[in-house]
Amino acid sequence: MRTQVGIIGAGPAGLMLSHLLHQRGIESVVIDLRSREDIEETIKAGVLEQGTVDLMTQTGVGDRLHRDGFVHHGFNIAFSGEQHRINLYDLTGGRTVTVYAQHEVLKDLIAKRLADGGDVRFGVTDTSVEGLETEHPTVRFAHDGEQHTLDCDFVAGCDGSRTFTRFLIPEGEIRTDFFRQYPFAWFGILAEAAPSSDELIYAHSERGFALISTRSPSVQRLYFQCDPDTDPDDWSESRIWEEIEARVAGAGATIKTGSIFKKDILQFRSFVCEPMQYGRLYLAGDAAHTVPPTGAKGLNLAVADVHALDRALGAYFEAKDDGLLESYTRTVLKRVWRAQHFSWWMTSMLHRFSDATDFDVRRQIAELEMVTGSPSAAKTIADNYVGLPLT
Ligand code: PHB
Repeated sequence: MRTQVGIIGAGPAGLMLSHLLHQRGIESVVIDLRSREDIEETIKAGVLEQGTVDLMTQTGVGDRLHRDGFVHHGFNIAFSGEQHRINLYDLTGGRTVTVYAQHEVLKDLIAKRLADGGDVRFGVTDTSVEGLETEHPTVRFAHDGEQHTLDCDFVAGCDGSRTFTRFLIPEGEIRTDFFRQYPFAWFGILAEAAPSSDELIYAHSERGFALISTRSPSVQRLYFQCDPDTDPDDWSESRIWEEIEARVAGAGATIKTGSIFKKDILQFRSFVCEPMQYGRLYLAGDAAHTVPPTGAKGLNLAVADVHALDRALGAYFEAKDDGLLESYTRTVLKRVWRAQHFSWWMTSMLHRFSDATDFDVRRQIAELEMVTGSPSAAKTIADNYVGLPLT
């Protein structure tokens, strides 16, 4: 088999890259070790930046998003017994975010790739990559009981935080020490309940952080800060609702409860590798960087990476110009580090650290008063939250 770009991983980065390349007439093959059902059903994030929504709309994968997603013109920050609204729309000159689950984005991309005759293979095993230093790397894998060798011009490593493609870069050629582990996690739930709030609420409280998000008029997504080794089975439904209520009630939010049908623990890490390329290999998305979920940036960064990679590969195949490929890491890491700072900032401002002194807590409150009270500080939050335009 032969293709122009061999894409490893059918998550947001891999599928979006294949879709964008197809639009400019560049062929790719996408392989993933997971099944299609697994990919289409795994619950992940849910906030799409304006740029992500625009890109999906412009490239013909925005129909369901516009029908079933929810456009949010603002979000709320709760602390010291009050809620404060960040008016995203006004502060950013008309930009918004859209709440639409990541697995729904993946369903839309898979359906579109298959409708466009794309080659996407699920459940592959025994993947290996060779020849990254040559002009024709190969990807070998097994699928449906057969061995395949895929000759490519380029390989895209889009295989998420459990990446193996990052480890194809020789040790001396890559830095992987940009890493931070946080001393807490998020307990996430999905519940059959009506929305507790029209817009998201990020709550700072003495018991720790809580986030009221949403999925649909009948399904709600909520999170609260917990210990990283919390066992979700130790938490009954009533205990979960009481904990969330205790963290937001003081700020005037009333939680609408319902049957909880999914519980999960999200670990908190910040990570960046540098460079994000080696020979004919280019990494995109979580294979190269991870952000804590407080800034809602993970999926959006993956989309921004492949938007840049698509343009760079386009310049190469259309004009034999490899300038954008050469500067790929530099281009995308600017946005990645902006998102790293924002995600760390939101995390540090809103969570309760176990070693926090009264000084630290008062300083957090002063910071929250600044970002909600000062129009210029609120604009900084809003600009980062809706995301920089894709350039
Ligand atoms: C979500 O709805 O899953 C969600 C929303 C906002 C975040 C993180 C996750 O910051």
